[in-house]
Amino acid sequence: MIPVRLSEIARITGGLVHHGPEGAGVDPLVDGPVVTDSREAAAGSLYIARIGEALDGHDFVAAARAQGAVAALTSRPVDDLPSVVVPDVQAAFVALAGALVEGNPGTVVIGITGSSGKTSTKDLLWSVLAHHGETVANVGSLNSEVGVPLTICRITPTTAYLILEMGSRGIGHIDYLTRIAQPQIGVVLNVGTAHVGEFGSREAIGRAKAELVQALPATGFAVLNADDPIVWGMSALTVAKVIGVGESEQAGVRALDICLDPQGRPSFTLVAGQGHVPVALGFHGEHHVGNALAVAAVALAVGMPLAEIAAALGEARPLSRWRMEVHERADGVTIVNDAYNANPDSTRAALKALAAMGSGRRTWAVLGEMRELGPESAREHEALGRLAIRLGVSRVVAVGEGTQPVDEGARAEGAYDGDADGDRPGGPARPGSGSAWVPDTDSAFELLRQNLAPGDVVLVKSSRDAGLRWLGDRLRDDTGAGDPS
Ligand SMILES: Nc1ncnc2c1ncn2[C@@H]1O[C@H](COP(=O)(O)OP(=O)(O)O)[C@@H](O)[C@H]1O
Ligand SMILES: [Mg+2]
Repeated sequence: MIPVRLSEIARITGGLVHHGPEGAGVDPLVDGPVVTDSREAAAGSLYIARIGEALDGHDFVAAARAQGAVAALTSRPVDDLPSVVVPDVQAAFVALAGALVEGNPGTVVIGITGSSGKTSTKDLLWSVLAHHGETVANVGSLNSEVGVPLTICRITPTTAYLILEMGSRGIGHIDYLTRIAQPQIGVVLNVGTAHVGEFGSREAIGRAKAELVQALPATGFAVLNADDPIVWGMSALTVAKVIGVGESEQAGVRALDICLDPQGRPSFTLVAGQGHVPVALGFHGEHHVGNALAVAAVALAVGMPLAEIAAALGEARPLSRWRMEVHERADGVTIVNDAYNANPDSTRAALKALAAMGSGRRTWAVLGEMRELGPESAREHEALGRLAIRLGVSRVVAVGEGTQPVDEGARAEGAYDGDADGDRPGGPARPGSGSAWVPDTDSAFELLRQNLAPGDVVLVKSSRDAGLRWLGDRLRDDTGAGDPS
């Protein structure tokens, strides 16, 4: 946080100071975290009282004070803390965040958007840039009109890089976020079908993501996936210098000779200008190559030497949970929990990683529903069931509502019509692949418990709301070996 007095917050936001319990003449210094959740308040905090759908933040001002908050931003006078009262708390919050970053011209603002991989790339970029200068990035997936200003308020006078993941559920959302703090560097990872139900089409998603590169200044850099035609098309929409990343020749930052180790971890040659360096990633799945290239392009743009970038990429490890999280159980079963979220692109990527990890081993794809796909939902689910079998996955387990088409697709590609228990003691020993649908995660757990054998690799993947990440955690913690009887 950059220390700021209450009177200064009033000036920035155009609000009125309400002195509260301290009485007039007191001008508290906010030098602790800016929070919207009273439970996260600490000594010196500014508490932002938002009015949500279910709760009114003004009811928690006293709680924030008890945690050490010294001031509040509110839309009506409160008794428990000195506050700045404004007509629109959200507008005042973004004005404050904007003023903090504007007053700190030494901080380079970097925006990241895309349909899949924003958080993974944000984490990786943080790991790399932190070697080069003080870096602030959003916690977890805080990427909205609240998360972005919260993250901005964490900068200090010495922050060199501010990394902002920017989410979008409609036209204008990213534009709004870029107006809070103008990025000098914008990264667009990919345009897929995440949230297509809300947007209507991939082209509409592309227009929404393009708002990031349209916000960049001429002195800035647009880091664009040269392998994704919709993203690459954004080159024409920005005045910033374009850096293409990918495997295609038009990419200025390229990956050559990608290969996966038996754990599904990619290594490749990173090529930028005349430079060639080997990179070995500590992440599972080929899709991380594209994320790493985007990170390398940003790091090059801020002047980090290529060899240092390659070393930092190699040292980085996953920071956020449930993204291709790999656990080796004592009984020799490997659980890959990638169920933080899912859409067709990230599920394809995860299935390919499973196939790579499964050479010579039996593989299970445990797939829950991918939400928010609109009318394409059944077709997309069916296609993934088919893909799993074509990639050589041994067993597909489709879990819960909306996933029957996964099972149907798998069977249409030749998986036997059974309950995926081909090697259950006493059952028929069926060769090749199998597929089953089960109604819920409890049934999936039981089915896996009884059928997993040492050496098996299990991928667990679904949208967040389908909740398979908890199934993945249960499978990880299960002592394994199932029921020996
Ligand atoms: N470049 C990518 N392409 C496809 N899937 C990806 C990519 N990067 C990460 N993923 C997968 O997408 C899912 C969501 O990743 P995350 O980094 O949380 O993305 P976001 O923040 O955009 O939702 C995870 O399962 C992750 O393994
Ligand atoms: Mg995210």
